[in-house]
Order: sequence, then structure tokens, then C-alpha cells
Amino acid sequence: MTLKIGWIGCGIHASQMLLPQLVRHDVQLTALCDIDGNRLAAAGRQFGVTHLTNDAQELIRRTDIDAVGMAVGPDQHLMFGKMALERGLPVFMEKPPSGSAAGARELLAASEKAGKPLLVGFMKRYSAGNKIASNILRSGRFGDVHGLTGYYMTAPGYFAGNVDYTGFFLHHCVHHMDLVSFLVSPVTKLTARKVEKGRGILLFHVHFDFECGAIGTIAMGTGQSRGAPVERIEIMGDHQRLEVDNVIEVRWNRNPPFKIDDPAAALADGEDTLSWKPNFTAAANEDPKGYHSLLADVVPALAGAQTSAPTIRDGVVAMERLEKLRHELAL
Ligand SMILES: NC(=O)c1ccc[n+]([C@@H]2O[C@H](COP(=O)([O-])OP(=O)(O)OC[C@H]3O[C@@H](n4cnc5c(N)ncnc54)[C@H](O)[C@@H]3O)[C@@H](O)[C@H]2O)c1
Repeated sequence: MTLKIGWIGCGIHASQMLLPQLVRHDVQLTALCDIDGNRLAAAGRQFGVTHLTNDAQELIRRTDIDAVGMAVGPDQHLMFGKMALERGLPVFMEKPPSGSAAGARELLAASEKAGKPLLVGFMKRYSAGNKIASNILRSGRFGDVHGLTGYYMTAPGYFAGNVDYTGFFLHHCVHHMDLVSFLVSPVTKLTARKVEKGRGILLFHVHFDFECGAIGTIAMGTGQSRGAPVERIEIMGDHQRLEVDNVIEVRWNRNPPFKIDDPAAALADGEDTLSWKPNFTAAANEDPKGYHSLLADVVPALAGAQTSAPTIRDGVVAMERLEKLRHELAL
């Protein structure tokens, strides 16, 4: 049955990334909301929606919707998320699920009280390279994970003249507070060190102890250009190593013999490196970042099915970890 969705927030992310992927699923966008009249009108035209409002409460009160989706901002996610759940509607929201761990816990309580799911947009789990890596790890063919290293960087332009890093933590770092456990296991200890070399130019290393015994470090910061790749993950095992570059390039290094002295050297199944990257010339499957695959789990979950879509429980874990990180960094 086609799911009727009321959507709040028609900003850049919603109109360029989420809504184009959402409407590929069995949904009907019934109503849209934004306080910016131009954006609202543009999204209405783009997605063929005529019920347009600047009042989120009015949208949530509509009787012709089955679920609410939103990509607005931390405080609005908390306020509108609670409102929709209290009205008995399932919800999908972009990260962050509120601006604080306490807010995320309020949303979890509201979801449990309503008996309705709240799904969170941790799409890094579904980005093509991360998805492949996690499936290899879960297959049993990789063996125990010993360690995770990686980096996630962004640009100082985001913070020009504003050395409040709150936005960087809430909108960026939160992804990896979720992703590391999705790839490895729950985090038992988190520590961090930082260096700040100029206004708004921050680098920190976050160290994780994982429940499975692995260790991890992710470098994060605000000192790189958005115009070049800013994301890499490497997972270390016993004679096995997975590398995911820029979320779309995967290498699985295993245990090959030296080739130089072997006249018959070739590439052997089961021991040489497997690699993958997408064919960007194919005019199909435009989903390297994972929004479509995330929503493929979210839409049935909104309709009541059990799927792997990240929930507000995952949101609470990520937000608590994020606060621990900020505490460690004194930022
Ligand atoms: N997962 C990802 O990769 C990813 C990427 C970008 C953004 N996001 C998230 O999506 C959310 C939106 O980000 P964005 O870049 O599109 O921001 P944006 O500022 O472009 O869009 C937000 C929109 O919400 C509207 N809005 C603000 N207050 C409102 C209210 N009270 N009622 C109705 N509309 C309101 C604004 O007018 C704006 O159009 C953020 O939470 C961000 O973290 C996620």
C-alpha cells in the first residue's frame, strides 16, 4: 500500500538528495512544509505536491498522512519528531536526532510511548563501500577485527568567523559515532586529543576501545577542502585488511604469496586483493552515498515492518558518544 508522507524541511539536502530518492519508493508525497516560501514553492513544483504549508504543526495534524519525514535541523527534529510521535505517526528524520543526547532520549521515549518507529538517516551504513565492507565483515570470511583507522574531514569554510564547532559535531562527526560500531562492535571506551592551528581549523584523533577487543582511531577535523575526498576507513584483521576510500572504492587485501620470483604468478581467487569501485558512466543506480538504500529500509519500517533501518536507539548511542567526545576535547 502506497505510504502517504508529509515532509518538513525543503532545504538543499532534502530537495537534492533525499526526496528524489524517496519518491522512487512506493510513497506519495502528500504535503510539504518549509518556512522559506521560495524553497517550499520550488519543492512543490519539483515533486508535484500542492499541499504546501509553512506551519509544521499544521502538516503533522493532517489526517491524510501515514508518516512524517524531516530534514530541518537539530532543535526542529526534536520538536517536530515528538509532535508527530505524540500524534501517533511514525517518523523518519535526518541526523542529528536533536541537538543533545538528552533530546535523543526524549525522542526514544516518545517513540516507545507511541509504539511507533523513529528512523534516523545514518546513511553511511548504506554508502556502497561501507555496505560492502560490513557485509564482508559479517560473512565470517574476514575473521576477528583487530582495529579500525580512518579519517573524516571537512572544510574551514563551514566555520569561517564562527569558532563554535557545534555544527561540525552535530552534522558531521555524529555519522562516525554511529558507523564505527556498525562496522566493528559497541564502544566500551572513548578518548580524544586535539590540535587547533587557527580560527576554525581543528584536528582531533578519537580513540575507541571496542567490545570485541579491537581498537580504533578516527581523525576528524575542519581543515580540508570539500572539493577533494575527505573520508577513509581501514579495518585490520589477521592477514586481512579492508580499505574503503571516499565511500565508493573498496580493496580487500588478503594473504597472497610473493609474485616476483614465481614465473607462473597470476592472481588467485581466495588470496589476492579484491577491489571494487562503481562505474560512474553507467546512467543508472545513482546511489553511491546510500540514500536510496537507506530509504529502501526506512519506507517499509515506517509501514510497520522490521528492517535494518537505523532507529532512535542507534541515535541515542551516537549522541551519547558525541557528547563524550566533546567532553574529552573540552569543545
Ligand atoms: N546525511 C547527510 O548526508 C546529510 C547531508 C546534509 C544535511 N543533512 C541533514 O539534513 C538537515 C537539513 O540540512 P540542509 O543542509 O538541507 O539544511 P538547509 O538549511 O538547506 O535546510 C533546512 C530547511 O529547513 C527549513 N526550516 C527551518 N526551520 C523550519 C521550521 N520551523 N519549519 C519548517 N521548515 C523549517 C529551512 O527554511 C530550510 O529550507 C540537517 O539536520 C543536516 O544535518 C544530512
